[in-house]
Amino acid sequence: MKKASLISIGAYVPKDTLTNFDLEKMVETSDEWIVKRTGIHTRHIATGEITSEIATKAALVAIQRADIDIKEIDAIICATISPDHFCMPSTACKIAKNLGLEGITAFDISAACTGFIYLLELAKSLIESGAKKNVLIIGAEKLSSIVDYSDRSTCILFGDGGGAAIISARDNNEILDVHTASDGNFADLLITPGGGSANPASQAMLENKLNFIHMAGNEVFKIAVQTLTKSVIDILQKNSITSDKVDLFIPHQANLRIIEAVKQRLNFTDSQCVVTVGKYGNTSAASIPMAINDAYEEGRLKNGDLILLDAFGGGFTWGSALLKFGGR
Ligand code: UT7
Repeated sequence: MKKASLISIGAYVPKDTLTNFDLEKMVETSDEWIVKRTGIHTRHIATGEITSEIATKAALVAIQRADIDIKEIDAIICATISPDHFCMPSTACKIAKNLGLEGITAFDISAACTGFIYLLELAKSLIESGAKKNVLIIGAEKLSSIVDYSDRSTCILFGDGGGAAIISARDNNEILDVHTASDGNFADLLITPGGGSANPASQAMLENKLNFIHMAGNEVFKIAVQTLTKSVIDILQKNSITSDKVDLFIPHQANLRIIEAVKQRLNFTDSQCVVTVGKYGNTSAASIPMAINDAYEEGRLKNGDLILLDAFGGGFTWGSALLKFGGR
């Protein structure tokens, strides 16, 4: 049986930025508060682009770095909570069109900030079942389209961007293990309440700003730290791997304090841990592939390195993955 391998990575961020100093002019906040409580200095904001365009640009980088012809891609799956269109068509269908790929499987998934881990599990299953050979997975977000820039508790956190990977059938360097989970009991703590069947579009829905992200930040924070830590302990124990054997620990980038708390509990060193939240903010489904791409471009990630991914987000959803980077 062929194994699923992550053979290439790519990312794209829109050129415009929104700094803490810009936010100081929009809401009652300060650069000092934001840096101290989140570690975020700036985030990228898409002004003229939509999610499928961000995703396509990230995908083109990953495709160019892979040793396959673009026509060998037989599925595209996009994880996003800020799709081009609510309901249909999927963002993945528009990415396929942008890439000139007709007649292939294309669909979106919604797993919030855990989206990339869910994508890995799906792509691995599709490849190891023999159904597909080369799956393009993309986490892409234009969160600025669902952020309320008058809500200081959320607007300081989120940014736009995309990250993509090619998952291909190979003989070795496989994706060793992926674990995904959810608990809908916490659905209301991190939610866009309006626009769906629970609260369809209406004048009142818009006036109450229910189309934007609402978050009980402090409660989410505590559960995130506990869950992210446990998720890593479980996947390391299951695979009989100790944390010192991990070359790079690449967690979801929501808040530097969350990353630091998890890192300390798990005894990861600074050189093992990838941190990008300071320059990108929280880019939800895009955050992990963007962070992998940063590590790759900085020369911190080589073929065969063991990487550990860990994510937590709305739903709640969470998950972790252990994989060797590169395809040969
Ligand atoms: O990616 C999915 C998962 N998401 C997360 O994991 C995010 C989790 N949550 C967080 O990152 C943090 O909870 C926040 C950054 C959102 C908030 O930080 P916090 O340390 O939990 O602050 P808090 O909500 O407990 O608020 C503390 C104080 C409050 O004032 P009072 O009531 O103590 O007077 C807030 O009103 O800070 C105030 N505050 C702010 N002050 C200045 C909240 N936001 C701001 C702000 N600027 N932007």
